[in-house]
Amino acid sequence: MESGSRRKIFAANWKMNLSAAKAEQFIQEMLSLDLPSDIQVLVFPPALYLQRLSELTANSQIEIGAQNIYWERSGAYTGEISAPMIDEAGAKFVICGHSERRHIFGESSEMVTRKAGAAQDEGIVPLICIGETLEERNAGETLEVLQSDTLSSLAAVDPDPELIIAYEPVWAIGTGLTATPEDAEKSISYIREQVRSIWGDLADKIRILYGGSVNADNIAELIACPNVDGALIGGASLNPDSFMEIIRNGTK
Ligand code: 13P
Repeated sequence: MESGSRRKIFAANWKMNLSAAKAEQFIQEMLSLDLPSDIQVLVFPPALYLQRLSELTANSQIEIGAQNIYWERSGAYTGEISAPMIDEAGAKFVICGHSERRHIFGESSEMVTRKAGAAQDEGIVPLICIGETLEERNAGETLEVLQSDTLSSLAAVDPDPELIIAYEPVWAIGTGLTATPEDAEKSISYIREQVRSIWGDLADKIRILYGGSVNADNIAELIACPNVDGALIGGASLNPDSFMEIIRNGTK
């Protein structure tokens, strides 16, 4: 499959930001704009806003996802949300194993793959994040980490019907340091080769995004890389103008 046939994704990960009113205003503003029809636009708000934003975006090109999930369907797991709950809120996607979950909250790849598998069982598309830390990069261990995290994070996941992967080097998240297009392409094509080692040519169908200090100035050169199928954007996705500018510059 040609890289051009993988529909590009522009995904906003709001993390623990925005009030309910601001979130709704953001979505209303996006809905009033013309988005390029050949892209997919995903917004990952805090869980409390999932239901409202899913209602607002029904029948639009904007799709809503959760930032986290727990693999059990229900039970005594204080503070967690399950796949059926996310589904009932109308969300269709969920981020699994964001580096903040891995490094601040201690999630392992074994936990990440259980989360992603539970999402798929409910018909929710997991967006699985993978990326090396600065220490690992400086020690020359990037490819080793990407290999082992990719393989272990995908262990309980099916290539069909769908999953998305994001390469987010930890040192590039929220730091203003972006991977060069060459580095992003090298890491993402390496991740795709790991996927190929388990699922063969289905690897060419799976979208792999880049994340880490993406902005309106660097999106064009990143998304021009043949293996980069879109972007997962944090800080620059918190206001509709800068998110739209990224979309515009990334689709010229
Ligand atoms: P920034 O775009 O703020 O670096 O965050 C990236 C990220 O973590 C998206 O999931």
